[in-house]
Amino acid sequence: MSLTDKASTSTTTTSNTGSFSVKTIAVIGAGQMGAGIAQVCSMSGFPTLIWDGAPAALNRGFEGIHSRLAAGLAKGRLTSELVESTKQNISMAASLEDTGGCDLIIEAIVENFEIKMDLFRKLDAATKPHTILASNTSSISITKIAATTKKPENVVGIHFMNPVPVMKLVELIRGLQTSEKTFSTAQALCERLGKTTVIGIDLPGFIINRILCPMVNEAIFLLQEGCRKEDIDLGMKLGTNHPMGPLELADFVGLDTLLSILQILHAELGEDKYRPCPLLIKYVEAGWYGRKVGRGFYQY
Ligand code: CAA
Ligand code: NAD
Repeated sequence: MSLTDKASTSTTTTSNTGSFSVKTIAVIGAGQMGAGIAQVCSMSGFPTLIWDGAPAALNRGFEGIHSRLAAGLAKGRLTSELVESTKQNISMAASLEDTGGCDLIIEAIVENFEIKMDLFRKLDAATKPHTILASNTSSISITKIAATTKKPENVVGIHFMNPVPVMKLVELIRGLQTSEKTFSTAQALCERLGKTTVIGIDLPGFIINRILCPMVNEAIFLLQEGCRKEDIDLGMKLGTNHPMGPLELADFVGLDTLLSILQILHAELGEDKYRPCPLLIKYVEAGWYGRKVGRGFYQY
């Protein structure tokens, strides 16, 4: 069954009312964020395609969704009907071009402007004039991403938090040329996904990472200066009621992603307070990207 057929038979997808005309969604990137985003979209009734440039990552992301659904069912958190309809809704795209027929595409690939630019150019060519192109970027200018396409008015920042199925917040970002229709569609979509939105401004790191990443970076400086990692993390957990200590959180986000965000904050806002800690750079050079590779500040 094609995605369009699934959309027309789906009971929970939407009609063309108001500003909301999204029936089918594609997610590009099946890493921790892409797989989580595809999971919540398909759980909310949207026929969803997921694609990744690395076939092994695509399979891993897709299997991860299935195992989280199975775990939710086993724990009694999800009904068998929801698990079944979600499985019906989600499929792997055979190619990037295969996603071009969807109404909304959410990009969640590596945090690197050149790589995202190349993808957005391809998506621009493969999609229909009305297709909304959203980026889950943590820090890159939405205006700059939009300018790589011929439909900048259709480009918007939809910044989910990790882990996507659990975290309530989505940060929305307008680029300079984002149309009100695109923005209100993105906002309505997030509501359909059961998320609460805040509106960030299109400056590096928006709201969350502008505040969070310098805090995590400071914790890495403390580690470099000789404080024990266990004390830093326990201190912040018990002293400020954070669910994870900052070093644990850095490993969870991915040290490669954290370093990219800090480099963008530092280069574009130009202040020393965003300078990435040399110890973070060393870890990334070693390939210690955190939990996703089994080693970061901790071993998994
Ligand atoms: N994917 C999906 N679900 C997950 C998950 C994952 N990776 N990790 C945990 N969960 C689910 C579990 O299945 C469990 O669900 P149920 O309640 O239905 O059983 C629930 O989350 C709680 O998990 P646990 O009991 O195993 O563990 P916990 O209570 O310690 O919670 C946590 C785990 C939710 C990750 C919590 O530690 C937490 O909130 N950490 C901070 C997360 C955070 O700050 N995120 C923002 C990062 S910054 C960002 O995202 C922006 C950016 O651009 C970098
Ligand atoms: P990740 O490393 O887990 O996954 C990235 C995926 O992108 C990989 O599977 C990789 O194969 C794929 N990829 C790379 N280049 C590609 C290309 N050209 N075409 C198709 N696929 C490609 O990363 P992640 O943590 O999921 O982060 C993805 C995006 O989400 C980044 O922009 C990041 O800043 C943002 N983000 C991350 C977090 C977080 O906590 N990790 C939170 C919010 C937003």
